[in-house]
Amino acid sequence: MKKNILVIYYSQTGQLEDIVRNIAKPFEAQKEEYDVTYYNIQLKEDFPYPWPGDVFFDTFPESYLQIPKEILPPSEEVLNKKYDLILFGYQVWFLTPSIPIISFLKSGYAAQLLKETPVITISGTRNMWMLSQEKLKVYLRDLKAKLVGNIALVDRHDNYTSVLTIVRWLTKGQKEKSGLLPAAGVSDEEITGSVKYGEIIEKHLKNTDLENLQPDLVKNGAIEIRPFLVRVEKVGNKIFTVWSNLIIKKKEKRPLLIKFFKVYLMTAIWVISPVVLVLHLLTTPIFWFKRQKQKRYLQGINLK
Ligand SMILES: Cc1cc2nc3c(=O)[nH]c(=O)nc-3n(C[C@H](O)[C@H](O)[C@H](O)COP(=O)(O)O)c2cc1C
Repeated sequence: MKKNILVIYYSQTGQLEDIVRNIAKPFEAQKEEYDVTYYNIQLKEDFPYPWPGDVFFDTFPESYLQIPKEILPPSEEVLNKKYDLILFGYQVWFLTPSIPIISFLKSGYAAQLLKETPVITISGTRNMWMLSQEKLKVYLRDLKAKLVGNIALVDRHDNYTSVLTIVRWLTKGQKEKSGLLPAAGVSDEEITGSVKYGEIIEKHLKNTDLENLQPDLVKNGAIEIRPFLVRVEKVGNKIFTVWSNLIIKKKEKRPLLIKFFKVYLMTAIWVISPVVLVLHLLTTPIFWFKRQKQKRYLQGINLK
């Protein structure tokens, strides 16, 4: 009997859609073995792209606090099947799975589709996805889904270059290189090359060996952990918790607080984070084993 594969995603720029479609190719190529269904999560009222700067920052509190919006129901075709495997594409907004993804996860549709089904999470982000994945793991556990694999594609440039290029990309819609700046986001080579992950997944599914999938994905470059970025994310989550709650509580001061948050975020990226980097490097010998252990954990699919 044919195996049913569901590909779930949301994508503003098309990057994540390209990634998940490439990963699904080996399944698409075997029509007699697999039936592939796509579900593009759609919000009733979508976010703009390119982003006006003020809308971008105004999205922060609800994004970080995982406050959902209304989604359009998936089609009957999507809902009426039981799936053998789900490829779950997501992107990160403000160190958290994006609002469209959270909106789906908090809808009854996620419970229906994901329950007792093997899921492979696939992200396409700037480079800070590690603690979002931890948040997603909690949702998947609560929805009784079986996380069997994770692929995290990122911008491989240094953290500062990728900040500059993502601003150009998200506010002007320009991913291509310009002047001294390289192209933004996940490279074209990696997007095209992500077919290889689909081949690995297909092999493990065919051999009913999904338990051993993740080490195989990691061996083939599906996950890169940069310990410095994990540190930045940990600090960032603490600070974002304070800012987001403050902005939500002080409704009448929201526009002003959002402006302060913007200045704060820029200062954190360009002034505080280099200091954190130096401290991180200086303490490398002391925390070497701890960081190696953390890296192994974040490469995996278990939840602490
Ligand atoms: C509002 C917003 C916040 C974002 N925050 C992060 C972040 O915290 N970490 C990160 O690695 N990428 C972040 N990104 C980049 C996205 O994860 C994603 O790679 C990019 O928006 C590509 O869009 P698409 O997947 O919708 O096509 C952010 C993007 C947006 C629009």
